[in-house]
Amino acid sequence: MKAAVTACSGGLGSAIAKEAIKEFGSENVIGICRTPSKAEHLGIEIRRADYSSKEEYDDALKGIDVLLVISASGNPAPRVAMHQNVIDAAAKNGVKKIVYTSIIGSPEKSEFSDIIISNRVTEENIKKSGFDYSIGRNGIYIEPDVEYIEQYKKDGTIINCAGEGKTLYTTRGELAYAYTQMMKDEKHNGQIYNLGGEAISQNELAEYLNKTFNTNLVYEAVSVEEYKKERIAELGEFMGTVIAGIYESIRNGDFDVDSHYEKVAGRKHISWDEYFSSIKNGK
Ligand SMILES: NC(=O)c1ccc[n+]([C@@H]2O[C@H](COP(=O)([O-])OP(=O)(O)OC[C@H]3O[C@@H](n4cnc5c(N)ncnc54)[C@H](OP(=O)(O)O)[C@@H]3O)[C@@H](O)[C@H]2O)c1
Repeated sequence: MKAAVTACSGGLGSAIAKEAIKEFGSENVIGICRTPSKAEHLGIEIRRADYSSKEEYDDALKGIDVLLVISASGNPAPRVAMHQNVIDAAAKNGVKKIVYTSIIGSPEKSEFSDIIISNRVTEENIKKSGFDYSIGRNGIYIEPDVEYIEQYKKDGTIINCAGEGKTLYTTRGELAYAYTQMMKDEKHNGQIYNLGGEAISQNELAEYLNKTFNTNLVYEAVSVEEYKKERIAELGEFMGTVIAGIYESIRNGDFDVDSHYEKVAGRKHISWDEYFSSIKNGK
């Protein structure tokens, strides 16, 4: 069985490629990405292809049985067509199974909706394409909050519009383990799973960061409008709107959903106690 992982130059794609190598052997895993120099460290065959080119994906998918497709990043408008290029090339090359990394969330209620919709449309396109499929809807990565710690220390606060909403957070490493099981095991075919750990509030996140980094961060909830304005001023129209939309979705309860992680991975998701202790202990 030959497995391929797209966007293997990125954080999630490279994490999944590493887990897939452990599971299937490096000779059976092929990485596909737009910037091969960023994926050389994986030590596997790397093929170059951009989501915007069906022709490049036609070449890249020769001999592949199981294909893990990472959702494209950036502007949501072209994403569905980009993903469709991959689906069409997979059909042409006789790929048997597609595993797709989607996202949790509601397509209706926030500035984040266009991204959710692009993922839901791709999910439908995969379902109707006739492949065996397995779809994961990812929780929110917790790593960016840890990487942001120096800025949080300067500010003394975590400010956003999530309010009391809880977030099904996860890590790329935990997702990688689950996706490798979804690639491997037929029992996951035809399933859509929410993937994340325990859902926590922003106050709980602040407590974990305080325990880990000996800080006294305080969580401050602001209105959606105020947060959006501030994020756009800092990050520009597109990224500011997306970030504000994510926290608006959290406020709406869209990320406070049950996780199917244990069912998929055959073990529990790492607990936040364990995760933050490992950071504190430098592991
Ligand atoms: N759940 C969350 O909290 C969360 C947060 C952020 C993003 N996401 C979504 O999850 C996906 C994976 O996350 P990540 O951590 O791996 O993001 P990442 O580290 O930013 O990597 C994004 C990957 O997408 C690739 N890519 C972007 N446009 C492409 C194109 N036109 N053709 C081919 N490859 C393209 C990039 O290739 P290059 O290396 O060539 O740029 C890179 O490999 C993202 O793409 C996004 O859809 C989820």
